Amino acid sequence: MDTVDQLRPKLLERIKNTPEPREVLKADEIKRLYGAIADLDPSQRGEYGKSVNALKQELEAAIAVREAELEDSEVERIDVTAPWDVNSTLPGLLPAQQGTQHPLTRELAEVVDIFTRMGFDAIESRQIDDDFHMFGALNFPENHPARDGYDTFRTEEGFIPPAHTSTMQNRILKDGKAALEAGGQIAAISYGRVFRNEDVDATHEHTFYQCEGVFVSDSATLGQMLGTLRSFFETYYGQKLKIKTQPGYFPFVEPGLEFAIEKPAALGGKPGEWLEMLGCGMIHPNVLRAADIDPEKYRGFAWGGGIDRLVMLKYGLDDVRHFESGKLQFLRKFN
Ligand code: DAH
Repeated sequence: MDTVDQLRPKLLERIKNTPEPREVLKADEIKRLYGAIADLDPSQRGEYGKSVNALKQELEAAIAVREAELEDSEVERIDVTAPWDVNSTLPGLLPAQQGTQHPLTRELAEVVDIFTRMGFDAIESRQIDDDFHMFGALNFPENHPARDGYDTFRTEEGFIPPAHTSTMQNRILKDGKAALEAGGQIAAISYGRVFRNEDVDATHEHTFYQCEGVFVSDSATLGQMLGTLRSFFETYYGQKLKIKTQPGYFPFVEPGLEFAIEKPAALGGKPGEWLEMLGCGMIHPNVLRAADIDPEKYRGFAWGGGIDRLVMLKYGLDDVRHFESGKLQFLRKFN
């Protein structure tokens, strides 16, 4: 049997080379060291026991070092100053071929695809805007408390990183006015990044994505809106869904509604578990007027909702912060 001194270097070496350093403490050799105490002359036991305990402490310290090292190596190191191929695990690929699309980019493309197949034009929303598009054009009166519902950032010059994609409504309406008056319709979605002064937690981000829809014709109805939304959600989740609405207040629609779907059993939902997915309603006459469209002749519906939440439900994700985290371990799950 090895003595304590003979065993020390062997065990330390083992700790350095294993992915499970703590397992080394269970080694048979150590059990034997302890077992040998009983066979010793009582006068030698004190000294021997101390040396075994000292060895154990030394091993514990080495294990802690090794565990820290292992944890560290799980964080992938990227040399941002290096030429592109140094970081590559697949030599020969161009930089753009080494990466993958961010899950939100990919899902957003899917959302856009579904709506364009339904006949909607799609435009990206702006990432810096002004008070008129954020509030004025959307029937928020000056100094009205409804403005407080949006935790808006402002630049020193008074510009606004939009708190919702509804900022695009006025532009969509103005762009579509001519076609509408020529007997056509306005059908467009706008998608993109929005920003809010939020306390960040698992369900709140300061930066997230929304998709807005606008439809105007001489005869648009709430029924058409509900059909459009149902069709979108059923296509996106690939199954039949139960939907419901309840009244909701947004200054730019009248009536305004909150639209919910029953969480599908296939995605872990229980019957009666409703998830609010977006806000919607019939476009307020003042919003049409702000784009110089006559509300006596034309009517429309609009909706807007978060993309992050949509994607979280699809993939069973529980923390919205993953999306902006840049963590490769998270992003690679979507390859
Ligand atoms: N912009 C609203 C928000 O972010 C959502 C919304 C509600 C958009 C109703 C709409 C609408 O177009 O009609 O809270």
